[in-house]
Amino acid sequence: MDLTTTYLGLKLSNPIVIGASPFSDSTHVARQLQDAGAAAVVMRSLFEEQIDAEQRALRHHVETPAESNPEATSFFPNFAEYQLVPDHYLRQIEDLKRALAIPVIASLNGTNPGGWTNYAKRCESAGADAIELNLYQLATDPAKAADDLEADMLETVGLVLNSVKIPVAVKLSPFHTAPAHFALALERMGAKGVVLFNRFYQPDFDVEELDVAPQLKLSDSSELLLRLRWLAVLSPHLKGSLAASGGVHSTRDVVKALLAGAHAVQVVSVLLKNGPRLLTTLLAGLRSWMEEHGYENVDEFRGAMNLARCPDPGAFERANYQKILQSWRV
Ligand SMILES: Cc1cc2nc3c(=O)[nH]c(=O)nc-3n(C[C@H](O)[C@H](O)[C@H](O)COP(=O)(O)O)c2cc1C
Repeated sequence: MDLTTTYLGLKLSNPIVIGASPFSDSTHVARQLQDAGAAAVVMRSLFEEQIDAEQRALRHHVETPAESNPEATSFFPNFAEYQLVPDHYLRQIEDLKRALAIPVIASLNGTNPGGWTNYAKRCESAGADAIELNLYQLATDPAKAADDLEADMLETVGLVLNSVKIPVAVKLSPFHTAPAHFALALERMGAKGVVLFNRFYQPDFDVEELDVAPQLKLSDSSELLLRLRWLAVLSPHLKGSLAASGGVHSTRDVVKALLAGAHAVQVVSVLLKNGPRLLTTLLAGLRSWMEEHGYENVDEFRGAMNLARCPDPGAFERANYQKILQSWRV
């Protein structure tokens, strides 16, 4: 049975990839993941703010440079609070490349066009097999229209694409007004794939202290549904790769993402909860499912449930929406 898949032009032994997370901070842990069957690993992100702060510090020879908006900058972690400072990040790519046989995907995280995007080149020189560019952003400025935000994002993606030869994937938010249009624009620019989606870590309110309480809740399978919908919508339109990220917790979830059109399925929460060995269970489950359904390789069923044969996916979605609402009686 052949579980191989091609993701971003990289040949992977199977579709399960470790999503951006602390798992790549230790070569020892990364090797355990590889031994348990991980087909590639995405490193935690290096952030635009981190790189900018370092570059300013270098220019001014001070650790905490003066800011045009000191209050805004104070929201961000101090330099020392980031797990990997930029130089350490590059060394970690080198270490992972030495320790692993599977592809290592570096992750850059930012949205504003600027000098920080040069780090893509440095990640490539350190040996990264691909870059995942995470465009995490909450569009809170009422003065900025969707078009302006997307223009900035596309310019940022262009800067990264122009600085490297290795493939670049873009990790998207689900909150674009026209996600299909934006994904196609990325592909036309040269991005080799999109990752669906970023998870937004929604802070809670502490009503005693009247404070905002940041919290990191791990996902569950219910979060996969949003990814399945957009994988199914995008899969017929994109020539490049699609990865699911968010809510993959079981073999069934892996199969669903592949049926919707994913080339790779990223996992983080399920491994944080269960440890690297769960990968062997997921892969064994995938093999059994394929055997039961008579599939020899992943390409035979990838995208079988996408919306390629649906003449109007928008109308289809609206029809389903209405049916669901009408199904309730009180
Ligand atoms: C502890 C932790 C750290 C993460 N760090 C990053 C990161 O640095 N960059 C990034 O793009 N995503 C990061 N993520 C998000 C994951 O890559 C992934 O998109 C998200 O957890 C959804 O997948 P899951 O349902 O399998 O957890 C992180 C997630 C967790 C739980």
